[in-house]
Amino acid sequence: MPSTEKFYLTTPIYYVNARPHIGHAYTTIVADVIARRHRLLGHDTRFLTGTDEHGQKIERSALAAGIPPQQFTDEVSREFRQLWDRMGLTYDDYIRTTEPRHKIGAQKLFADLHARGQIYLSTYTGQYSVGEEIFVEGPPGVLGPDGRPTETVTEENFFFKLSEYQLPLIDLIESDGLHIQSESRKNEVLSFLRGNLVEARESGSAIGTSKLGNQYVIGALRDLSVSRSSFTWGIPVPEPAASETQQKHIIYVWLDALANYMTAVGYGSDKPEDKACFERYWPADVHLMSKEITRQHCIYWPAFLMAAKLPTPKSVTAHGWLLFEESKMSKSKGNIVRAETVLDAFGEHVYGKQFPDSTKHERDLFSADVLRYHLLREIPFGQDGSFSFDAMITRYNADLANGYGNLASRTLSLIVQNLDGIVPSVSAPQSAETDAVINELLSFSEIDAHYESSRFDQLTQTISARIKTVDVYLSSHAPWKLAKSEDPADLQKMVEVLYTAAESIRILTALLFPFLPNATAKVWAQLGLGDIEAAARNGELNNLAWGGLKPGTPLGTLSPIFPRADKGLAQIMTEVEASAPSTKPATEQPAAETTPAPAVIETAPEPTVTGPADASPQITIDDFAKVELRVAQVLVCERIPKADKLLRLEVDLGYEKRQILSGIAEWYTPEEMIGRKIVVITNLAPRKMRGLESHGMLLAASEGEGGKPVLATFGEEIAVGSRLK
Ligand code: ME8
Ligand code: MG
Repeated sequence: MPSTEKFYLTTPIYYVNARPHIGHAYTTIVADVIARRHRLLGHDTRFLTGTDEHGQKIERSALAAGIPPQQFTDEVSREFRQLWDRMGLTYDDYIRTTEPRHKIGAQKLFADLHARGQIYLSTYTGQYSVGEEIFVEGPPGVLGPDGRPTETVTEENFFFKLSEYQLPLIDLIESDGLHIQSESRKNEVLSFLRGNLVEARESGSAIGTSKLGNQYVIGALRDLSVSRSSFTWGIPVPEPAASETQQKHIIYVWLDALANYMTAVGYGSDKPEDKACFERYWPADVHLMSKEITRQHCIYWPAFLMAAKLPTPKSVTAHGWLLFEESKMSKSKGNIVRAETVLDAFGEHVYGKQFPDSTKHERDLFSADVLRYHLLREIPFGQDGSFSFDAMITRYNADLANGYGNLASRTLSLIVQNLDGIVPSVSAPQSAETDAVINELLSFSEIDAHYESSRFDQLTQTISARIKTVDVYLSSHAPWKLAKSEDPADLQKMVEVLYTAAESIRILTALLFPFLPNATAKVWAQLGLGDIEAAARNGELNNLAWGGLKPGTPLGTLSPIFPRADKGLAQIMTEVEASAPSTKPATEQPAAETTPAPAVIETAPEPTVTGPADASPQITIDDFAKVELRVAQVLVCERIPKADKLLRLEVDLGYEKRQILSGIAEWYTPEEMIGRKIVVITNLAPRKMRGLESHGMLLAASEGEGGKPVLATFGEEIAVGSRLK
């Protein structure tokens, strides 16, 4: 077993309902920065990411794509992984919840909790948010945390005795046994755990006191459903619990998903090497994520672990959301920016222009640095931040092209021009200005503190300020002028200035390595120092001291690090994003379906009818009675890849749920459809469009020449399922 300290870091495992966007890239990039930092500190680092592939949301997305769930998840999971590889992210393991190693471990955890009497069978009736895969308190129709209406479910479920862990969780979190970063997230979790004290005092409910002396409402934490029985896409509940039930149950997707953090390090396996791995790495040091899933990580997860008598994770670090047009970027909403857009644009228009012969891989790694730096520098970690292409280009030009890249190129070419490209030796004493630069460059406590508190924006800002210091130092001494002097003192000064600048660049490069692994590798090589990855492994980027750049070292070959980016690039990226077909995964359509989508506008059948003058032939009441019209509520609504006109809806008829495809996408957005009550012709024979079954039709009036559909709605409250007659 290695004697070094271990560090186990995880990202959330992402849902594969749609392709990744820069929100996911953000978390995975932050994890990569942290992992690289720990590796250079000499820690035995393990960085895990992966995909969450079970549950109702995924099952429905696969249904919408018209392909079996396993094939669907294979495709989307691969897209996530390929994106991380394109960006050179150094995850050590990639777990998928559909892998056997995970299924075995998740079942073991369930079986263990069951054996310990922590799980019992009962019935759940209440609201469920499919988007977030969580049970929600409130009346039917209450909105879930994603702002969409919840669905009412009544089903047999296994329950976990979460209520028994209220006080143990409060004590664990208050004492920082589970450290929650930031403080405000910690307070949120604690106030949820403590319950509504004001109400409890008024109603005289029982109030308890935690170890640290804080009050909480006894019983405020309810038991949690940990199995589902109304659909099948998940890990089967194992025996002996399975035999207690009439229907087949699957493990609730959050219990399944959270278990990944352990199954990826060997939990559930009997092999000695897996057992050793689990011993070595569990518990995790940091679970990284954004704020919307802290409850699952800070309450459910440690409670499951305490119940199974397993160690709880040391910390949960939650960042904010990347916003786009003021709201959270989300796969379901479709208001996203994809990392690929940035990689492609910077790769082609910035790097590719400077280096036309460069490979795609080189371009990708260059662009990945740009994205990494921007996200970490621009967004105060823990807060929400808006993403903008303009801001990214401005920051790139200021900090990287004109900042770090320019300083390195300027300094090193002066050494080439004036000192034959060899690192000079400096004879003491040095000037006060030089000493001031050295002192500033060697003050690492601020940097360490920013790492400690995950303040990456301030950290990069601090480094940027030091780049400026060296830049000003270089300019004010104008070594290019000193080089022309006949006075040996001036030449001596030139040498001092150039050495100081070059050695400063070495230190700055070591500090920037976790943020800009590709660019710093180039600068390191140009400084004549060789391979920065090897340097990181050897501890040369840690415990930095002045003088690491040895006199006599020949510089490497110089070339531009960060070519300037044109402002027009923002426009290019905006257009690429606007014309992106869909965030949904590309799926293969059956051959017969590759013809253009039938422009079925499922509205009034006679768009040419202009008035009562040319009315249709008369029918009897019996004829009309053949048409079954009912009130339905839209539960799910989304666009269909490569079919501009079609929306896929899932509607609730009260007595059943159905999928309907409707050609109204040019007039209605999915957002305005969800939750809406509409009229459906229910007894229309089902038919297939784009490989998907459409069972029913929406009723709408057809307006004007273009036949614009206007959906039939009601002025009064109306129960779902009511018949129109
Ligand atoms: O929640 N801004 O998966 P998910 C910042 N499968 N980060 C964002 C983001 C945004 N707009 N959008 C997504 C799940 N993220 C579960 C997790 S873990 C056992 C199971 C990042 O696909 C962020 O890290 O909804 C967030 O927590 C995660 O993606 C959620 O991804
Ligand atoms: Mg989510």
